[in-house]
Amino acid sequence: GTDEKKAMAEIHELLAKLYHHCLLHTKQGRPALDYLEKRGFTRESIERFQIGFAPDSWETASRFIEKRGLDISVAEKAGLIGKRQSDGKPYDRFRNRIMFPIWDRTGTVVAFGGRVLEANDEPKYLNSPESKIFHKGKTLYGLNLSRAEIRQKQHAVIFEGYVDTISAFRAGVTNGVATLGTSLTEDHAAILRRNVQSVTICYDSDKAGVEAAFRASEILVKQGCTVKISQMPDGMDPDDYINKYGNESFLKDIIGASLTVMAFKIQYYRRGKNLRDEGERMIYIEEIINEIARLPKAVERDHYLRQIASEFNLSLDALKQQQTQTFKQQQ
Ligand code: CTP
Ligand code: MN
Ligand code: MN
Ligand code: MN
Ligand code: MN
Repeated sequence: GTDEKKAMAEIHELLAKLYHHCLLHTKQGRPALDYLEKRGFTRESIERFQIGFAPDSWETASRFIEKRGLDISVAEKAGLIGKRQSDGKPYDRFRNRIMFPIWDRTGTVVAFGGRVLEANDEPKYLNSPESKIFHKGKTLYGLNLSRAEIRQKQHAVIFEGYVDTISAFRAGVTNGVATLGTSLTEDHAAILRRNVQSVTICYDSDKAGVEAAFRASEILVKQGCTVKISQMPDGMDPDDYINKYGNESFLKDIIGASLTVMAFKIQYYRRGKNLRDEGERMIYIEEIINEIARLPKAVERDHYLRQIASEFNLSLDALKQQQTQTFKQQQ
């Protein structure tokens, strides 16, 4: 019931403080702090995002919970604590990881994401499972921190991950949130839409990121958002870009140069194609017609079809026919 939810939230709040303390003020936390500093994290961002460190130990959290008289079974339900098969003894699930607290919309810590320091330790991120207080598909990382800025700027930027959100904040994007690797859900979109209409998707510039951005844009448009997509050089994510090219370039050349969804798709499908080659040109035209067919508004479809017709000297009728076929195939 609500008591268990309260107890669960309290455990998360206290552990977040403990992990934050371990990062900043203990010897064990030193390598983690060095790691973060090497990656460009500032004290300000470590504070704002309450970043912490779970020591390389099986019993830091479990002992802390017991000592404080908190309910270990509640921590177990939240995925913070595991139970040894052999004797039922509790152990910490998050060990030797940088800890990113995840908040609900009121700013209560309801989950954690834990990142390894060494690239070869798998998985890279260990995240809290769904629980009575953590619903991944309804949680936008950082919204509690950026809501006021989002409303004031009347604009939001959506990232994939913790690190991107935090680096972008440092670069001046104070209106960012992240979907944490999951695809953006209708609930995410509805929650955003309650705060803002205009959004920019700034996912990783790899195939997975671009495809996720396309799916997210459709969901956001359905909820009534105006969507732009920003793009980084191939294979980079926002954090990579900021560290390589700096804050100003990120704001101006990436966020500031975001494209409408259709403009983004046009240049995305164009990339690497020689449009003077007939075969490649036909593939490109078909890809774009597919995309145009998915646009919800007839006026928009007409606009882009005319653009294609005039660019490639095709009849609008032929394009419309092809689009009708495509549309039927999609139904
Ligand atoms: N993610 C996850 N589990 C993984 C990989 C990713 O939960 N095994 C989520 C995390 O929330 C992560 C986001 O997906 O922040 C984006 O993943 P990825 O691009 O792989 O990580 P980065 O955010 O770039 O993290 P880093 O820069 O620290 O490598
Ligand atoms: Mn602090
Ligand atoms: Mn990614
Ligand atoms: Mn990434
Ligand atoms: Mn990254």
